[in-house]
Amino acid sequence: MRIAMIGAGYVGLVSGACFADFGHGVVCIDTDPAKIAALEAGRMPIYEPGLEALVAENVRQGRLAFRTELREAVAEADAVFIAVGTPSRRGDGFADLSFVHAAARAIAGALTGFTVVVTKSTVPVGTGDEVERIIREANPQADVAVASNPEFLREGAAIADFKRPDRIVVGAEDPRAVAVLNEIYRPLYLNQAPILVTGRRTAELTKYAANAFLATKITFINEIADLCEQVGADVQQVARGIGLDNRIGRKFLHAGPGYGGSCFPKDTLALVKTAQDYATPMRIVETVVAVNESRKRAMARKVIAACGGAVRGKTIALLGLTFKPNTDDMRDAPSLAIVAGLQDAGARVQAYDPEGMEQARPLLGDVAYASDPYACAEGADALVLVTEWDAFRALDFTRLRERMAQPVLVDLRNVYRPQDIQARGFRYVSVGRPDLESAG
Ligand code: UDX
Repeated sequence: MRIAMIGAGYVGLVSGACFADFGHGVVCIDTDPAKIAALEAGRMPIYEPGLEALVAENVRQGRLAFRTELREAVAEADAVFIAVGTPSRRGDGFADLSFVHAAARAIAGALTGFTVVVTKSTVPVGTGDEVERIIREANPQADVAVASNPEFLREGAAIADFKRPDRIVVGAEDPRAVAVLNEIYRPLYLNQAPILVTGRRTAELTKYAANAFLATKITFINEIADLCEQVGADVQQVARGIGLDNRIGRKFLHAGPGYGGSCFPKDTLALVKTAQDYATPMRIVETVVAVNESRKRAMARKVIAACGGAVRGKTIALLGLTFKPNTDDMRDAPSLAIVAGLQDAGARVQAYDPEGMEQARPLLGDVAYASDPYACAEGADALVLVTEWDAFRALDFTRLRERMAQPVLVDLRNVYRPQDIQARGFRYVSVGRPDLESAG
């Protein structure tokens, strides 16, 4: 199959490279010439494990190319995927579809022969209808079917997720579109990934429902963690105790500083907005959004409490800044609210992140960046683990403690065993686990 991928961002680039790896001919198109030039030179605009090698190999095999002009690639394509950004619109939180609409208009004039236009970006219910209307208005002769094929990959595990998905959702009314998408995903039959064929609006809503449900699961366990701290229970064990029930499931029950990233915050807000527009408010999701927002700020208060109630003039060292490990993505990272909260309370903040410091710089004012975890701990009154990078799992805590002004470790990801850290002379505070000192 010949595929044109509009948008060489996270989803577009990963999907394009993986489709090429399946053996399809893929052209990734992006209007940003600097991005295309970098990709042609083999430089990735994002950090994603394994992506650079996958792109290089498929470019070498002649199956993957990058362009700023879409005309030729769209004319030759069996399927054109729209994978442009859908950021939250300022003010109302609704997804900003201007890039999707612009892509639809640009595609319309270039279509030749039967072509399936597929929205892969996460788009609100009804966007497929709008894309179809734009294309038909701009090019009434076009032989086109518009389908929805939401992407469920996670950053940091994007390639593995794309190649071994739990399911593929295809929303299309036209059987010719279903046939083309079946052919594109045929290599995944080997992995026995079920393809769910639904109506277009159903596919669009499925994506939002999945992300809102996962965000709810995380928020639920975070609130249970708060309660655990008050009643002297252990959230890790509660999570295991409920997660072994298949109806609940074990994943996404890890308590922490609140969810962040490019999807959950934006998609939960967009779903809330859609539900309100259709006069069917989703009060659960509205609450999840509010609880998660306040949680991020509450994490700064947790650190302040661990420092004895005040941090004015103190130095707080943050390990990890990105919203999760194995990415350089800082979008809606809890660290943004934590740093702001600590600085507002008068603390000096120093930080180390294996990949995220460059992206963090423009977002965080007045943070001192360190070259490694030990330099980060220098002179600190507390060390706060914000992101659970593997590199932080086996730190030398004696070496860390020697550098710090006060031996306080706040672990917002429950990475360590309390006994191990306390045995090294730290005061250790984690999330939703009983404090050993007070528990006796
Ligand atoms: C998510 C969805 O998983 C994916 O299906 C969707 O397509 C895009 O959004 P991603 O944002 O890359 O993917 O990250 P994910 O691994 O899901 O983590 C999201 C956030 O939730 C992170 O901030 C993470 O730290 C947090 N999280 C996740 C928890 O706090 N606890 C958990 O148990 C799981």
